[in-house]
Amino acid sequence: MKRVAIVGAQWGDEGKGKVVNYFAGDYEWIVRFSGGANAGHTIYVGDRKYVNHLLPSISPLNKKSKAFLGAGMVIDLAQLIEEINVLEKDYPGFSSRVYLDREAFLVLPWHKEQDGIMESWRENPIGTTKKGIGPAYTDKVSREGIKFYHLLDEDMLKERLKLAYEMKSKMFEGELSYDDKDVFDYLIEQREKLKKMKVNITSAVDLVDIFRGTTVLFEGAQGVLLDLNFGTYPFVTSGSCMAHGVSSVGFSTFELDEVFGVLKAYTTRVGEGPYPTEEFGEIGQEIREKGGEYGATTGRPRRVGWLDLPALRYAKIRSGLTRFIITKADVLNGLDEIKICTAYDVKGKIKEVPSSSYDFFVAKPVYETVKGWKDMKDVNFLKYMALIEEKTGIKISHISYGPKTEEMMTKNKLITLL
Ligand code: IMP
Repeated sequence: MKRVAIVGAQWGDEGKGKVVNYFAGDYEWIVRFSGGANAGHTIYVGDRKYVNHLLPSISPLNKKSKAFLGAGMVIDLAQLIEEINVLEKDYPGFSSRVYLDREAFLVLPWHKEQDGIMESWRENPIGTTKKGIGPAYTDKVSREGIKFYHLLDEDMLKERLKLAYEMKSKMFEGELSYDDKDVFDYLIEQREKLKKMKVNITSAVDLVDIFRGTTVLFEGAQGVLLDLNFGTYPFVTSGSCMAHGVSSVGFSTFELDEVFGVLKAYTTRVGEGPYPTEEFGEIGQEIREKGGEYGATTGRPRRVGWLDLPALRYAKIRSGLTRFIITKADVLNGLDEIKICTAYDVKGKIKEVPSSSYDFFVAKPVYETVKGWKDMKDVNFLKYMALIEEKTGIKISHISYGPKTEEMMTKNKLITLL
């Protein structure tokens, strides 16, 4: 397959980082197309764990693949520099495989402050990561944003920051601790640090023909149900969490051979918002502990619940998913019974697929209870996967059974082991 997108099929944290890294060796370019440092993508290189927030999930040992940070992202330069430095220190030469689209927007220090201030103003906070994502995308849309290329023209940068600050000081009336001059100095400092590194500043315009002639893996961030347009709005992030986001790199979804949806064998959600299959009892706590369900970016305990088939069907339709990769089924090993939501009761009407994100707010889950499994080789686990496939119309191709890259096998392989 020449071009694939890998996206989260739930509320994020499905294990996309590990999955992307597993497949990355087959692709020349690994492209992050949306989101920012709100994401936390974990990869293992041997026994060493790296949590990247901005860098595409490729192992530094993979010297064939290049990492591209696309224009749909919002980039926190200090964070990016830190991530690259960690990998460059351990694996000299890594940074020369990193490419940054100069059209991408930047997350600035005042965006992080605004994020916190706005959360405190909200009667119903979203539970953001406070990484400045919403305010950076807001500035992009309201045309006060700073693009990477503005750093290359200091006069333009000064002018844009001045205009942005004038607007912000009216809106935030003395609540911000940075002014345009502080942000200018910060940006120049980051630019100078970046200059000393071997990172490539380029754009999809320069590269899109190259992309078209080779293999590309588009790495999504968060999950379909956190998508700005189709997630559980307003309890969503501000970027595109779906395969459609590849348009920001100049691609159409028609140019994708496949869209892989990564799903966890259960569900989690971090932050506020509707969550029909949330499990509040002891069992939820047990799954949280066993699955290490604490945010990779903020350390917050994740909300935990049962697998939600209507939500998966919704994700399939909205994001054009063509196959599933299931992760963390081993976390459920040893449970006698497992609940699985097969439909929603929406105000007395049974629905297999939510009609819109509104349904998530009012849905009551309709559960089926299935037998648990001892381990991956237990036939009950196969039955669980068969139920998912039958009820969603999508095949599961791979099973991830641990955090390490190599802890993954095809479903066909698993069947031969039974
Ligand atoms: P923001 O993206 O920081 O604005 O947060 C908006 C919502 O998305 C909050 O509920 C966050 O917890 C959630 N969120 C953002 N990034 C991630 C992620 O990578 N995994 C899971 N939830 C996320």
